[in-house]
Amino acid sequence: MNSIYRVAVLAGDGIGPEVMREAIRVLRAVEAASTLRFQLTEAPVGWAAIDAKGEALPAETLNLCRQSDAILFGSVGLPDRDPSISKERRPERAALLRIRREFGLYANLRPVQLPLALAHICPLRPERQGAGLDLLVVRELTGGMYFGQPKLTETLPDGQRRAIDTMVYTTREIERIARIAFESALVRRKKVTSIDKANVLENGILWREVVSQIGREYPTVTLEHMFVDNAAMQLMIRPTQFDVLLCENMFGDILSDEAAALAGSLGMLPSASLGSKGDHETTFGFYEPAGGTAPDIAGKNLANPIAQILSAALMLRYSFRQEAAALAIEQAVTAVLNQGFRTGDIHNASDPNCRRVGTIEMGEAVSREIAKVLLAAQT
Ligand code: IPM
Ligand code: MG
Repeated sequence: MNSIYRVAVLAGDGIGPEVMREAIRVLRAVEAASTLRFQLTEAPVGWAAIDAKGEALPAETLNLCRQSDAILFGSVGLPDRDPSISKERRPERAALLRIRREFGLYANLRPVQLPLALAHICPLRPERQGAGLDLLVVRELTGGMYFGQPKLTETLPDGQRRAIDTMVYTTREIERIARIAFESALVRRKKVTSIDKANVLENGILWREVVSQIGREYPTVTLEHMFVDNAAMQLMIRPTQFDVLLCENMFGDILSDEAAALAGSLGMLPSASLGSKGDHETTFGFYEPAGGTAPDIAGKNLANPIAQILSAALMLRYSFRQEAAALAIEQAVTAVLNQGFRTGDIHNASDPNCRRVGTIEMGEAVSREIAKVLLAAQT
């Protein structure tokens, strides 16, 4: 008998709750077809929590996270809500960045894949897509300009205001994220492209030096260095050259959205943020779709739940080491796409084999496939 995995379920704002419902449906389908058991406990975060409890990350929610084996997160942040609430109390900083720091989630993994069935939604011409896109952005998540001090806005004697953000990295911070990138490459196509701005930034010089040094521990992995501006261009011109992209926090934020666009829809992209939480060493994780709250389509049964469902798969893989169940979810998603199920963001009206469905139908279709995949694997 397997143990029961305790999961803090934080759906958040916008489309968060409805896509989370489908991820839960899929996890329940995994339970029904396996011996795995999940204790899923929901708690408010983001604007939902500000409305209910007066703060974006209430103490009860944070405690639940501390007592859990992993956090399955939806999305937070509604830019148009209440401008009178200060930036410090808004969900992006008070919930998302706070959780990243609180749990030391320094490694953010964003796998970008373009399934063959979705080649039509890739903005690149077919000849640039090669045999399909498959890359992994490894983004450092707790350092750099996001957290470096000083970070402030001040008024100068002449009345001008001045804003300061500080980019800071220590060798230890670079070493540990570099190791994650090299380890990831070992089980992929064995290539790491390390992104920096070593022609301008002190941080870039140190980054390059330390990554090269760690690279010597991985002689079977090819290491290449690339300036961030060139990488932004290469992603558009020849994305198939990339396997693992290793980035500091800010560069990873920008390049991962760019890479995501190649897979056609942010609604397809899961992410895992890994760190340390006492007894969990490196496997404590936070799993969220990359796409955000999409307030314009929230509550309309239009959102694509696949990123949230695939985030649950990453949780099974990285936090619970249940590779078979993680693969089953990924195979179920591929099967459903091959059957032609499409939410609006990935729909191709001119393809007669496609069927436009809502959030719920997509979740139900994946759940049905889970049972088939898992039961087939057992016999
Ligand atoms: C992301 C997001 C966040 C970030 C925002 C919402 C703070 O863009 O996870 O990529 O910049 O890290
Ligand atoms: Mg971002």
